[in-house]
Formats: sequence, C-alpha cells, structure tokens
Amino acid sequence: MNTPTIEIFPWNENFATGIASIDEEHRILIGLLNQLVSHLAFQSDAPTLNAIFAQLADYAVHHFASEEAVWHEYLADDSWETWHKHAHVSFVDEVVRLKAEENNKPLDDVIEDIVSFLTRWLAFHILESDRRLAKVVLALPYGMSLEQAKETANNEMSGATKVLIDTVMKMYDSLANRTVQLTREMNRRRLAEQELQMANLVYQNSSEAMAVIDEENRIIAINPAFTQMTGYGLEEIKRLGLESLGTGDSGSAVLQALQDAPMPWATGAGTSGCVTRTAWIMPSG
Ligand SMILES: [Fe+2]
Repeated sequence: MNTPTIEIFPWNENFATGIASIDEEHRILIGLLNQLVSHLAFQSDAPTLNAIFAQLADYAVHHFASEEAVWHEYLADDSWETWHKHAHVSFVDEVVRLKAEENNKPLDDVIEDIVSFLTRWLAFHILESDRRLAKVVLALPYGMSLEQAKETANNEMSGATKVLIDTVMKMYDSLANRTVQLTREMNRRRLAEQELQMANLVYQNSSEAMAVIDEENRIIAINPAFTQMTGYGLEEIKRLGLESLGTGDSGSAVLQALQDAPMPWATGAGTSGCVTRTAWIMPSG
C-alpha cells in the first residue's frame, strides 16, 4: 500500500546552502523524515516503522560523512570543523538515546519523540550551521583568507539573516508541533475504529443473541443470533415490542435476559446519548 505523505518538514529555499551535493542530500534526508512521519500517522506496523527509521539513521550517518569531507577540504583542523563534527556526533548520540527508550514506551511514542527532535535539530542545523560553513567554502575560491571568509560568513549570518532564521525556526517549530499532534489524533481515531470494527464483528457473528434497548425498553438493534433464536427480524420486533417475546421458551429467555440486563450504559454520538442496555443471551442446548 502506498502511504500518503505528510510533510512535517516542507523543503524551503531558505534551507539551500548553495553547495549542490549537500543540498541534494539534505533534500533526501528531509524526504525520509517526512516518510517516517507519514508511516507513523497511517499506523504502519512496527517492522515498517523500524525499517524507515533505520534507513533515515543510515542516511544521516552517510550524509554527515560526505558533508564533513567537504568542510575538511576547506577548513581542515579549524575550530569550525571541530565543533561541526561534534554537533553531528551529539545528534547521532541523541537519536540512539531516544530510540533506546522503546524498552520503556510504545514504539509510536518513541518515533514521535524522534520526529520532533529531528525536525527541530535538522531545521536549525541546516539554517544556522551548515549555511555558515557553506558561506566560507563558497568564499575561499575568490581569494579570501580563511579568517576573512569566516568573518564575512559571521557578518552575513547576523542581522536580517538572524531574524529570518528565528522566524523560519518558529514556523517549523509550530508546524512540527501541530503535525505531531495531528499524527497522534489520527492514531487515536484509527485505534478506536479498529476496536469498533472488532466489537461489530463479535456482535454480528456471535452465537449469543444480543439486543440493544433504550431506557423505555424499545429495541434499537439486534444481532443475527437474536433473529435466529426468536424468529424476529429487527423491524418486526420493533413493531411488536418486547412483550411479544414473552411467548415461547426462547422468547421468554430473551425477554428475561433483557429485563435482567446489567447496568445501563450511555452510548456514543450515534444514538444521541440515549441510555441503552445490552442483553447477551446464551443459546439453549
Ligand atoms: Fe552539518
């Protein structure tokens, strides 16, 4: 099945560093992150979630290595190269730590935490750190010294650009938040639907007669076993009323069971909040 894509992280030209190979890899990385969110939202099974996560983690490691090779070519042993490497290492450490949480919480929750972390980290890292280094790399071939190129990059990354980064980060933060909330809600609804379907399956296929009645003892719904046991279809029993069950052994048993039905329970929106009772009647013999 093709999973529709939810874009927790839509690509935006502000993320371009100007170095084609790095930009291409960032796009792939972000694409994998969006895929992971989509599989999370559409309740893919654990092996699929784990497989996409592994693909994303492997690609991140591959990308960091190739990005670091670019920085190394121009900034070998410079402090900027060192702290950038540290940032990559601490990213991998944090993802590994978050993934290990699956021993304590459900995989869905773990992936949600990872997705939130990845979105914020990647957005900030690309906007701030990668772009700053890329500016140095792109300036050096024009005859600037390394120190001059770093100073120019710092100047370019301050002022209006800093405001832009802060604005984009706020947008991505709230987008990530809302996407995770939406994903959570979709999961909850999907689980509730599955439970309802299961309950309906049991209701329809049970060999026990089941009937739902309202507070005035009017029948709302019956299952096939009810018809089998009493001989009445839904419309007929609605028209005749419960009292008609009082004749015949099976009918009496059903009536008795309905009258003895346990605590009333409030139904959901489908029956406008009326109070109903459900009776389960074992087939005799
Ligand atoms: Fe980086």
